[in-house]
Amino acid sequence: MVLINRTKMIVAGVATLALALTACGSSTSSSSSSSAASTAASAAASAAASAPASTSGAPIKVGFAQTGSESGWRSANTESMKAAFSAANGFDLTFNAADNDPAAQIAAVRSFINQKVDAIVMSPIVADGWDGVLKEAADAKIPVVLEDRTVSAPDTLFASWVGLDFKKEGVTAGTWAKEQYGDTDTKMVVLEGTTGSAPANDRAAGFDEAIAGSKIQKIDSQTGDFTRDGGKKVMEGFLQKYGADGIDLVFAHNDDMALGAIEAIEAAGAVPGKDIKIISIDAVHDGMAALAAGKINYIVECNPLLGELAAGLVKDVLAGNPVEKANFVEDGNFTQEQAAAVLDSRKY
Ligand code: AHR
Repeated sequence: MVLINRTKMIVAGVATLALALTACGSSTSSSSSSSAASTAASAAASAAASAPASTSGAPIKVGFAQTGSESGWRSANTESMKAAFSAANGFDLTFNAADNDPAAQIAAVRSFINQKVDAIVMSPIVADGWDGVLKEAADAKIPVVLEDRTVSAPDTLFASWVGLDFKKEGVTAGTWAKEQYGDTDTKMVVLEGTTGSAPANDRAAGFDEAIAGSKIQKIDSQTGDFTRDGGKKVMEGFLQKYGADGIDLVFAHNDDMALGAIEAIEAAGAVPGKDIKIISIDAVHDGMAALAAGKINYIVECNPLLGELAAGLVKDVLAGNPVEKANFVEDGNFTQEQAAAVLDSRKY
């Protein structure tokens, strides 16, 4: 696991300063503090990402191994990464999306090593299985920067990571669930993200920890692979097994699966957000629209706009500037009323 140090920040370079500002923020998320911190980070990292990394003038060759295109969050993340690693910012980007196949993603990273890129950036589909290829990158002296998801390999095998605190997202979601529903018998089903992925592991752990001691009872839990279709199919199975009357609450590890669950619940003749409450994570546009419309009850944010921060880290690493190993971006959280108020101003 990535070692997380929220207090000791080495400040070197504009991007790192911005990351330090967000990482040292309050541990209790609020929508407004989150967006202020993200905006500050974004502006400063933008300056760093567009500054040249060396005086040679040659573009920096970067291979980016993306998970795939499973969700609205992923589309926003890919767009953010491609914009930040643009030719205009001094990069020559090779992009690979692995269609959620861990073996294909490892092969993509190995091909970047063979192409002798200057740096590799990746969002690992699953946390395990990375030691071998990360050692190969280290032997080839190619630095690796992780964005979004983490690996279980020793943190000596990568230069830095930027992303979100998935465990805290789960705790925030679970704490709200406990406050709202924890005093009455509540039967809950869980739509899990991709099995073995850092967000699925950590969100589940954080949520379970937060609802401990409440009257919320997890009656079933299955993976919907972070996709809308997967969430719909798994929810259809739960509705067949327990009936709409036998389920009070859905915890979906992302908005896309919650949106699929809404379709399944409506097809079963029940009302999402009322007959069956829904909590999810991401706060992408379609999820926020469903929250504002009363079909989802609460969303914890997971900000996908990591491109400028990742590009700033790559430039710092290649320039030999010290960087933090773990760089957190703060998340917000939204009730139905808050979603309705901010929907039009959302960037993703
Ligand atoms: O790793 C982040 C997660 O991956 C997002 O929550 C989900 O939507 C995406 O597929």
